[in-house]
Amino acid sequence: MVRVSGMPPIPLWMFARTAANFALGPFYKKRIAHEAAVRIDGPCLREAVLKRKFHLGAAVSDTEAPSFSRAFQETFTSLTPENALKWGSLRKTLSGPYDFTDADRIVAAAGRVGARVRGHTLVWGKFPGAGFPLDLADVLNNASNPAAALHGIMEEHIFTVMGRYRDSIADWDVVNEPFELFRMRMDDNAFHQVLGFDYIPLSFSLARKAHPSARLFLNEEVYPYRGKRPAELLGLLRRLRDSGAPIDGVGIQSHVITDIPSLKDLKGFLGKLRELDLAVEITELDASIGVFRRERDPFRAQGELFKGIVETCLECPSCTGVTFWGIDGRNNWMDSIPLLIPFAPNSPFLYGRDMQYKPAYRDVRDAFIHP
Ligand code: XIL
Repeated sequence: MVRVSGMPPIPLWMFARTAANFALGPFYKKRIAHEAAVRIDGPCLREAVLKRKFHLGAAVSDTEAPSFSRAFQETFTSLTPENALKWGSLRKTLSGPYDFTDADRIVAAAGRVGARVRGHTLVWGKFPGAGFPLDLADVLNNASNPAAALHGIMEEHIFTVMGRYRDSIADWDVVNEPFELFRMRMDDNAFHQVLGFDYIPLSFSLARKAHPSARLFLNEEVYPYRGKRPAELLGLLRRLRDSGAPIDGVGIQSHVITDIPSLKDLKGFLGKLRELDLAVEITELDASIGVFRRERDPFRAQGELFKGIVETCLECPSCTGVTFWGIDGRNNWMDSIPLLIPFAPNSPFLYGRDMQYKPAYRDVRDAFIHP
């Protein structure tokens, strides 16, 4: 019997931490509530990024917003559809048809502004109706051979989506988040329940067949950059490599939610990934301003972290890009999950709520313009 669930329960330690942050919130509100802004003169960041073999990206949902055209004119060279390419967005139920309206619109807009597109994501076992179709478990439970049925369903999906965007998307997050969110073990999602670990190499083989020249990534949240989670991820990647799975790269999400991560740890982790000969990208960077609440100047500290991450990646020959999980303070997923991240407004990106340049913008620009 295949079972799927929505958001996993938040573990006690995480709950205790967010509760503490709630309680302390009012003491720090003054330091973090007002977004700092800076003036930027001189060459445009996007031109500086284009001079390197490197991408600076942002996740996008709304291509009609004025912030979109400005940000992609002056800053970003790469775009990740925030939700539009997820299986559950393209096809709510397996019994219904695909709806490519949103995805087509975003991919076409990326073409107009000359941005590379990162395809996110083909096989994600979390969040029914978002990560994958709502009726997946029902369909598998009614199948006489669930493994064969799932293989067929995955093949159809991967070929349909990669085929449709063959000329516009050459970098794909093939498998997203194979680990549980809060505990360090394989996520026992529907794919894993039916096919075991093999669902991961199978996804990659199908993707290679569907679009042989695309770069195929496994994307995972690795936070902090040292300890059990990165070690387990390295183990998983080694296992994939050894089994001959056609994987080309690894995406490190980097949602900074509870603590400021160490750049030394990031450097160490990138070094270990190099030994596996895989490309690397930071794929979903954002940092709640609340994480920096104890720093003398939280907005400067946020900028220093972003700058450090970009510099570390620029120095690493296998790292091909850094993508922020949004553009401006007004539109960000962190503000929508107060139970986990209680510091709204989180101001987690380079631009503020009114598209003003934050200190982080200047710092990231410095990483490219004055290395
Ligand atoms: C998030 C989006 O930002 C939200 O709009 C949506 O409601 C839920 O998904 N890891 C991922 C991303 O791989 O796809 C998630 O995006 C954030 C966590």
